[in-house]
Amino acid sequence: MKNILITGGAGFIGSNLSLKLIEKGYQITILDNLSPQIHGNNPNSTSPLYNSVKEKTNIILGSVTSKSDWIKAIENQDAIIHLAAETGTGQSMYEIQKYCDVNVMGTAIMLDILANTKHSIQKIIVASSRAIYGEGKYECQEHSIVYPNERNDSDMQNGDFECKCPICGSNLVLLPTTENSKIHPSSIYGITKQNQEQMVLTVGKALGIPAIAFRYQNVYGVGQSLSNPYTGILSIFSTLMLKNKSINIFEDGNESRDFVYIDDVVNATIAGLENDTVSNMVFNVGTGKAETVKSIVDTLLEKYNTSSQYSISGNYRLGDIRHNFADISLAKKHLKFNPAIDIKTGLSKFTEWVKLQDTHSCDYEKSLNEMRERKLFK
Ligand SMILES: NC(=O)c1ccc[n+]([C@@H]2O[C@H](COP(=O)([O-])OP(=O)(O)OC[C@H]3O[C@@H](n4cnc5c(N)ncnc54)[C@H](O)[C@@H]3O)[C@@H](O)[C@H]2O)c1
Ligand SMILES: [Zn+2]
Repeated sequence: MKNILITGGAGFIGSNLSLKLIEKGYQITILDNLSPQIHGNNPNSTSPLYNSVKEKTNIILGSVTSKSDWIKAIENQDAIIHLAAETGTGQSMYEIQKYCDVNVMGTAIMLDILANTKHSIQKIIVASSRAIYGEGKYECQEHSIVYPNERNDSDMQNGDFECKCPICGSNLVLLPTTENSKIHPSSIYGITKQNQEQMVLTVGKALGIPAIAFRYQNVYGVGQSLSNPYTGILSIFSTLMLKNKSINIFEDGNESRDFVYIDDVVNATIAGLENDTVSNMVFNVGTGKAETVKSIVDTLLEKYNTSSQYSISGNYRLGDIRHNFADISLAKKHLKFNPAIDIKTGLSKFTEWVKLQDTHSCDYEKSLNEMRERKLFK
């Protein structure tokens, strides 16, 4: 395998992956529409991500929602890494058709081409997400392993944000989410990721094309968009702190995520591409550790020279989950994946890089207002 098509290859994960694969001798073609939400209105000057790959790859400016763009992109490729997607969890709750069109229909078009035309694709990798787990895996003292439902609005209004046992309602102990955990996304974004993953694995198997889905946890690091207000809390908080603005920590600050550094995500994805023995498998990609949002904010405040202060507001967004962290033993076993960058090191690298960037405007307030108007943010 030499020629790799990366959809969304100008994005955060895609551009880093492209550069690493080029270093390893691969030829990279990118299909990307340079979405303004990620790349700004004039990517040549507003998108460092695009600029990092534009001269080193064959870029097809087009959309995964266009069959003719896909046909052009797939020609002569050996493998597809399908990353192009709309990625905002909150935004997906009111831009429903757009999320389904790009994420689900985009994948359907790709699979239609593979099923119905002559092609040279020998492997498909698709970016899935921890979002498909919804509220992850927990233990109830009485009912052992349980998968809590979406949290209920009235509990959250009363400041009680923890997940409850779906059988007896009692408080739970959080467990790492394994790949065989229940799939029950709590956002349209999560639903589209579940669909993408199942479609690729099902059709891949039927056509005899090895396929892998990676369920990435929260990916962060050098190069991530500092202007997209719809996703990436590290970017959002950093941008606010550099402007000395106040930070609104939602819920009670104890909500947690598994933050995985971009280099580790790139390495896991390449291990999947190059592995000849695994096919039709899904892998979690994370660090296997949960960090609370409050602890992340504390660390960021230490790193930046800022007068920002935070308040723990009790606000919440419908569709957000409470906690999630990955069990990564499957990727360790089959792909020899071992995350090398812990949160402390990763945040140092990230914040040092942020300090060198031009100050970005980030319409975070606008993104919250869009949700507030629709009663999705309370
Ligand atoms: N970053 C994370 O934390 C994370 C976590 C879980 C899963 N993922 C998944 O990984 C993939 C890559 O995420 P990312 O963080 O690099 O996102 P990103 O937004 O930085 O990159 C996505 C890229 O896709 C492009 N794109 C959007 N719509 C398109 C369309 N219709 N046609 C062609 N290109 C289009 C964008 O221009 C962008 O370059 C996505 O599928 C995302 O769902 C990311
Ligand atoms: Zn119980």
